[in-house]
Amino acid sequence: MLAIRTFAQDELTTFAQHCRIPIVNALTDLEHPCQILADLLTVEENFGEVAGRTVTYIGDGNNIAHSLLLGCALAGAHVRVASPEGFAPDPAVVAQARNLAAGTEVVVTTDPKAAAAGANVLYTDVWASMGQEGEAIARQAAFRPYQINAELLALAKPGAIVLHCLPAHREEEITTEVLEGPNPGSGIRQKIASMPKKP
Ligand code: NVA
Repeated sequence: MLAIRTFAQDELTTFAQHCRIPIVNALTDLEHPCQILADLLTVEENFGEVAGRTVTYIGDGNNIAHSLLLGCALAGAHVRVASPEGFAPDPAVVAQARNLAAGTEVVVTTDPKAAAAGANVLYTDVWASMGQEGEAIARQAAFRPYQINAELLALAKPGAIVLHCLPAHREEEITTEVLEGPNPGSGIRQKIASMPKKP
């Protein structure tokens, strides 16, 4: 097998078309399935099962959002994605998730509070992904209301866990208070503890 971590999904599909061995997506700009498999395992470790839980992603409708939509739909979890206008997940991926979902909700919204209400899991990712570093400053204003902070977390279900694919940008998509609080899921607490603190 070959695991490929790259930008363009096309590179991966081209490889797959010309290879006789299995190709694993280890991150493209479209999807990040291995990350989401690990996250769903964390959800299972924390709640006993994934099915029936509500997983809310707040932020950029990017590769993480896409794989979370698909992974939750397959695993029987309700999934909600809240993104600023213009940064919603790819409608084709949302449609694919809705096709996969067997009676569970697949919600895409611009309202982070409605998405967070009653959720078991709040998930976020950086506002500018790898390859988008040049857009980082311009994106900040649009994404500011989509920060996971104590106020947003208070809307989630008591005992909710917080996930982030890491590395996190403190005080951007997530506050240090939440990142270092009791809510991050078991699988990522250790990783967070080893991350350098921002001055
Ligand atoms: N959306 C991020 C995920 C990093 C694990 C990126 O593509 O850079």
